[in-house]
Amino acid sequence: MKIAILGSGFIARFYADSLLGQRRKDTVMLVYSRTEERAKTFASDYNIPHYSTNLEEALSHPDVDVVIIALSNDLHLQAVQACAKAQKHILCTKPLGRTAAEAKQMLQLVDEAGIMGGYLEDLCYSPKFLKSLQSIKNGSLGRILWAKSREAHPGPHSNWFWNKELSGGGAIVDLGCHCIEIARNYIGKNVKPVEVMCWAATQVHPIEAEDNAIGLVKYENGAIGQFEVSWCFRGGMDLRDEVQGTEGSIWINNFLRTGFEMFSSGKGGYVAEKAETSNGWLFPVGDEVHELGYTNMFTDMFDAIEQGRQPQENFYDGYIVNAVIDAAYASAKSGRWEKIQLDVWRGEEEITQATLLTSFDDHHYLIKDEILPSGAKVLILKDKVSGEISRKTIAANI
Ligand SMILES: NC(=O)c1ccc[n+]([C@@H]2O[C@H](COP(=O)([O-])OP(=O)(O)OC[C@H]3O[C@@H](n4cnc5c(N)ncnc54)[C@H](O)[C@@H]3O)[C@@H](O)[C@H]2O)c1
Repeated sequence: MKIAILGSGFIARFYADSLLGQRRKDTVMLVYSRTEERAKTFASDYNIPHYSTNLEEALSHPDVDVVIIALSNDLHLQAVQACAKAQKHILCTKPLGRTAAEAKQMLQLVDEAGIMGGYLEDLCYSPKFLKSLQSIKNGSLGRILWAKSREAHPGPHSNWFWNKELSGGGAIVDLGCHCIEIARNYIGKNVKPVEVMCWAATQVHPIEAEDNAIGLVKYENGAIGQFEVSWCFRGGMDLRDEVQGTEGSIWINNFLRTGFEMFSSGKGGYVAEKAETSNGWLFPVGDEVHELGYTNMFTDMFDAIEQGRQPQENFYDGYIVNAVIDAAYASAKSGRWEKIQLDVWRGEEEITQATLLTSFDDHHYLIKDEILPSGAKVLILKDKVSGEISRKTIAANI
């Protein structure tokens, strides 16, 4: 694949590290940046043959098959419009739009142009996430009841994130987009998210947008997704997921305390994304680009283009996430559950809540069983007719 990267900032460097850090058959042919100096530096740092300060010129370059949008949120729609016009496949960073209306336009543009729209949701490609998702799909956790994802750090690195007009909001749109899509994957992408209840507040920073939020996303099958996001968390980047199913649970810590701890008096430099210090006990990450999912993500994106299929995360998913975010903002304002407006829905309709009843014998349902310290087993049962709840003890075999 021959790639152009639009943007030369923070995420553009993560993407280039992932694309060029190890052997790949894909090559970055061109980088676009507003200023010649930044474009030239980026091209030289990553050994990229072409650079441009002109978007049209960058997109029409004959050596480019696919374009990565690594620009600030306000420019995603405009960049997608230009790519669709140039008939180049698009991989767009998160969030897809600032609103569902923007994301819907982007989805329509790729659909109409017959090009692929990949949604660069890296945290849905981290090794721990992919393994968890596979276990869930294999049935290890049974029916998923609750999926929580948390992303919290001390706040973003560029000015435009803090400007609500340019970014579309605060921690919800910036970090909640990851958490919402993570929970949605665990619960099942075919299951419709229907309502959101969200608390959001500006607790620390002098900005219009929220720097803290917690939200609940209700799904049609009765499952609940939960997102926790913060731009006020001190001590690094906290990326954790918890999933609870009828047959099991998963806890993931993606970034802090991953089993790598180091002490330094502070003579080194960069430790890990959003690490606030380089002295004392530190939590570095072995291969940041891989642990954050970028490597698996680009493999899926390019395989998808070659195989003429949709990648695991695509513009449709980005649109659903934006629709959930819109409802979260509405709920934070109204203080009530707000309906998720989905003009485009490609999953299942009217999935009813699965049965909650496990039959024990002809007369009883099983509520739970447990082995006591004595070795005896207790069963809590419910009579199928009278509804009476009883306890039955089975003595331990001695
Ligand atoms: N984990 C992730 O997936 C992840 C992490 C960080 C950022 N992002 C996303 O990546 C995008 C860029 O964020 P970043 O952290 O790289 O920010 P950044 O500020 O470091 O870089 C933004 C880039 O956009 C360019 N830009 C800004 N305004 C422009 C304009 N008017 N015309 C042309 N270029 C302009 C800047 O020059 C820079 O190259 C955002 O959408 C952000 O949400 C994703």
